[in-house]
Amino acid sequence: MDNRQFRLAARPVGLPKRSDFELTTTPRPTPSDGEVLVRLAYVSLDPAMRGWMNEGRSYIEAVKLGDVMRAYAVGRVVESRAPGLSEGNYVVGAFGVQEWAAVPAAHANQIDPAIAPLPTWIGGLGVTGMTAYFGLTEIGKPQPGETVLVSAAAGATGSVVGQIATIRGCRAVGIAGGADKCRLLVEELGFAAAIDYKAEEKLAAAIRRECPRGVDVFFDNVGGETLDAALANLARRARVVICGAISQYNSTTPRAPQNYLSLLVHSARMEGFVLFDFRQRYAEAVLALAGWRAEGRLKLFEDIVDGIESFPDALLKLFCGENRGKLMIKIADV
Ligand SMILES: NC(=O)c1ccc[n+]([C@@H]2O[C@H](COP(=O)([O-])OP(=O)(O)OC[C@H]3O[C@@H](n4cnc5c(N)ncnc54)[C@H](OP(=O)(O)O)[C@@H]3O)[C@@H](O)[C@H]2O)c1
Repeated sequence: MDNRQFRLAARPVGLPKRSDFELTTTPRPTPSDGEVLVRLAYVSLDPAMRGWMNEGRSYIEAVKLGDVMRAYAVGRVVESRAPGLSEGNYVVGAFGVQEWAAVPAAHANQIDPAIAPLPTWIGGLGVTGMTAYFGLTEIGKPQPGETVLVSAAAGATGSVVGQIATIRGCRAVGIAGGADKCRLLVEELGFAAAIDYKAEEKLAAAIRRECPRGVDVFFDNVGGETLDAALANLARRARVVICGAISQYNSTTPRAPQNYLSLLVHSARMEGFVLFDFRQRYAEAVLALAGWRAEGRLKLFEDIVDGIESFPDALLKLFCGENRGKLMIKIADV
């Protein structure tokens, strides 16, 4: 049986184009000793993939030209040559944008589909959920009664951040693009307020209106002008969590924050993080997130696009706000 995969053919300039990728077909791989063969079910699409396409120093090595595009995925073990994993086990890992993957067993983490369906394991119980959990609780350190402002709030990470903030007794305020997304935040996800940044003339003024006592925690997924508008509204001793800056990922001239002196004026701090910083504690996050989900306090949404062929176009949904919840591609029924 064949294995289709998307490889990085060129380093994109600006938004990735179809010609930056090549769809190749190779024979299905055979696992070596210590490896498992995984039939992929769903492949996660993440804004970070855009950064992995760039050459240069980062928190992880760039994808090499000609290599299968790196991506998180969930699938089923169909052959095992390693102790600890057996045929029929379900696993998550960085298996790439492809249909089959032979990987060292140490790179395949077993999950339990009885706890949540497979897509949830690369969304709310996967990278995005854990990023929301550690970024908010460990970097943002929200206290009951505080105002937590979140950008890209209707997205996979942001929607979980706002819900955890509410669970922790905070007032969650979301920034999102469009009335539908804002309605979702307030009516279904329990945010106290939502700001449609596409409809506001001045975002900083809208934040002031919805956060009259200032912003105690700003969880930023967007960067650029959004970060500056939030910096203009900090409360004393605020914490600004730099989770991402999606508005800048395709820019050849990224914008630096202009209102950074607000950190001085408000004795505030701004701190970035990558999820890998917390790799020893993933189980703790999954336990908490799965518990809230089971109690009905955490709602998780997936936006599932069909078929590996859709990869280059589907990825762009993230950068124009077309996704509704955690974006992923369905590869196969496993
Ligand atoms: N630090 C870490 O370890 C880590 C780990 C995972 C993810 N992240 C970061 O978390 C952020 C969210 O990732 P996600 O996977 O959860 O994606 P997502 O929020 O589900 O999707 C991205 C959303 O960003 C918004 N957006 C895109 N371009 C924008 C722009 N120019 N201005 C304003 N908003 C824009 C869109 O929502 P609207 O319709 O509201 O515009 C879009 O739906 C990203 O910055 C990502 O890099 C960081």
